[in-house]
Amino acid sequence: MLRTFAVIGDPIDHSLSPTIHNAAYRYLDLECTYIGYKIGKNELESGIQSLKSIKISGFNVTIPHKIEIMQLLDAVDENCRLIGAANTVVNDNGNLKGYNTDMDGFLEPIKNREIPIENSNVLLLGAGGASRAVIAGLAKEHAKKITIINRTKQKAEELAKFSRELGVESDIVSIDEVEKLNELYNLVVNASSLGLKSEPNIIPTKLITDKTVVYDIVYKPVNTELIKIAKKKNAEIIYGYEMLLGQATRSFEIWLKQKAPYDAMKKAILGGF
Ligand code: ATR
Repeated sequence: MLRTFAVIGDPIDHSLSPTIHNAAYRYLDLECTYIGYKIGKNELESGIQSLKSIKISGFNVTIPHKIEIMQLLDAVDENCRLIGAANTVVNDNGNLKGYNTDMDGFLEPIKNREIPIENSNVLLLGAGGASRAVIAGLAKEHAKKITIINRTKQKAEELAKFSRELGVESDIVSIDEVEKLNELYNLVVNASSLGLKSEPNIIPTKLITDKTVVYDIVYKPVNTELIKIAKKKNAEIIYGYEMLLGQATRSFEIWLKQKAPYDAMKKAILGGF
């Protein structure tokens, strides 16, 4: 029987998830298909009903729903509970269970490069669902301090509190005050959607040096404004598609209960740009 999967969010037309997952199904000759489904900010509940009515087997959740989806799930795994957000859902006959593969997906390229996170000083842009997964991952690896920049101050405050609860020092800086920052950051992460629509970078360029690791979770365009600056400064770069691949292979394994074809999925990502 054909099984259908989806990614839900808004914007969704840029998403490479259908390309990656369909490539995996083709490679393994699975009778599955994966679609992109646009659900706007205030349409989540009705959107989920629609997915249930077409008997969706599972779906990924992206901007702006990763936190709000939690209220619509019947069960969640330990990572979701810790992070307070879900990016992967299994539909078992109308019973929805949430998982979060963002945290491990985020950490995978850091570990592949053997970048030490312990005791590091981190600058994080964004305070949505993806940022929560990033903070949980950084806390797991014992980062020292996370400075959060976010457009909405209240969300930054909530995330700073979350970080402290996980044992990592944290402070917040408003977007108007970023130019005042002058510390040395080992790692600069963009976990906001800034860059997705080719917006200009807002992280002060003086903070990026050849000793900084710059990690932009925006994967389209590949070379965001932040990545372009990081290249100019000879910083070490981690691209958004690397996290995308990390979380996608894990989602695949949750749904299909078999090992994901990593190389075929990677090839699909790289060919998808
Ligand atoms: P997700 O769950 O995928 O992380 P989200 O919760 O909508 O998605 O979070 C998106 C993040 O990008 C937020 O930190 C958001 O800032 P706000 O908290 O102020 O909404 C940030 N973001 C989105 N568009 C932005 C923009 N144009 N400028 C600055 N930050 C932006």
